[in-house]
Amino acid sequence: MSAPTGGPIRTAIAGVGNCASSLVQAISYCRAKGPDAVGVSFPVLGGLRPEDIEVVAGFDVDRRKVARPIGEAVLAEPNCTEVFWDLLSDQTAPVHRGPDLDGVSAFMRNQPPEVSFVPSDAPALSRDQVVEVLQAAEAEVLVILLPVGSAEAVEFYADCALAAGCAVVNGIPVFLASNPAWAKKFEAAGLPILGDDFKAQFGATVVHRTLAHLADLRGVKVDRTYQLNVGGNTDFMNMMDMDRLATKRESKTEAVQSAMDARLADGNIRIGPSDYVPWLQDRKVAYVRLEGRLLGGARTSVEMRLEVEDSPNAAAMAITAIRCARIARTRGLAGPIQDASAFLFKHPPVQIDDPEAYDRLLAFAGDA
Ligand SMILES: NC(=O)c1ccc[n+]([C@@H]2O[C@H](COP(=O)([O-])OP(=O)(O)OC[C@H]3O[C@@H](n4cnc5c(N)ncnc54)[C@H](O)[C@@H]3O)[C@@H](O)[C@H]2O)c1
Repeated sequence: MSAPTGGPIRTAIAGVGNCASSLVQAISYCRAKGPDAVGVSFPVLGGLRPEDIEVVAGFDVDRRKVARPIGEAVLAEPNCTEVFWDLLSDQTAPVHRGPDLDGVSAFMRNQPPEVSFVPSDAPALSRDQVVEVLQAAEAEVLVILLPVGSAEAVEFYADCALAAGCAVVNGIPVFLASNPAWAKKFEAAGLPILGDDFKAQFGATVVHRTLAHLADLRGVKVDRTYQLNVGGNTDFMNMMDMDRLATKRESKTEAVQSAMDARLADGNIRIGPSDYVPWLQDRKVAYVRLEGRLLGGARTSVEMRLEVEDSPNAAAMAITAIRCARIARTRGLAGPIQDASAFLFKHPPVQIDDPEAYDRLLAFAGDA
């Protein structure tokens, strides 16, 4: 696809779960509310607004979502995120049946359907058919919102995006933008990639990074820290399978380590999803603790509890990253977009302090 110059940002979504629900709702909400929309990180970025995004295709495997318009699919079980905007009749893009690959684990297949993924009986699209769908929909960006641990599925959709001429926004902790081999493929194809793993708008990662950085600024020696996260959505259920967690833990831990002047020994830092509490649904609770020493070795510690609706917190970054993909395409940029990724993702190609990353994002968008 040639570089777009204007018009709606035609966007496809792989994984029509809770984050996709918040993303689709956010677009319709911003269309309706315009400048009165609440909680939008960058109401205008490089001249683009969230309502400039148009969802043109979805891919999922769940029988309650496949073959439905995306505005209906995002409200179907097992999605459980808060519905902050239910006027979704403008969201008519079809949800296509993608291949399961490693998206649905054996562990998830054994859970009750209302809290898990239920693969559809419809035949799955092949690689060539997914590419055709993306091309026919004239998608310019593909957003990846698949379950944690689905490395094969992520690589499948990244490969389809390359073949279809789509930029990629990778919201999950399977490393693409921060993996030199994938970075090269996008460079060679002349396509931008932003990632990896959304750093939520006001999530545990950015708050934890800020506390750790504050301690450094004030000369406090941080000795140890943890960040324990619990939630009750399918993301948390899926992450009960410890075998799928390695890159999630790496992404979250590295995001905090990189905000500190001195790295902590592995035994002194523990960060990750910690339990599944069904009744929390899409609410996530994070418990953060830092222990350290002040002048003369005097002890200090801080405990923080953060509660958020999990999926709108990620969608806020998605509506920014999609606009950055358009900006990058318009400028003919290819490969990892470092100046935008550091602010938006936990595991970018290069970690940068959040205030500087914010300035770089604005400069990239031409808004500095
Ligand atoms: N919520 C946040 O703040 C946040 C932040 C960073 C990253 N993330 C990540 O974003 C991802 C999506 O999160 P979510 O809460 O929407 O998860 P979710 O479990 O609600 O949605 C995942 C969706 O993927 C579908 N799926 C499974 N296998 C598939 C396949 N092979 N092809 C297409 N679709 C498939 C499922 O049916 C489901 O609809 C997760 O990896 C999560 O860790 C979330």
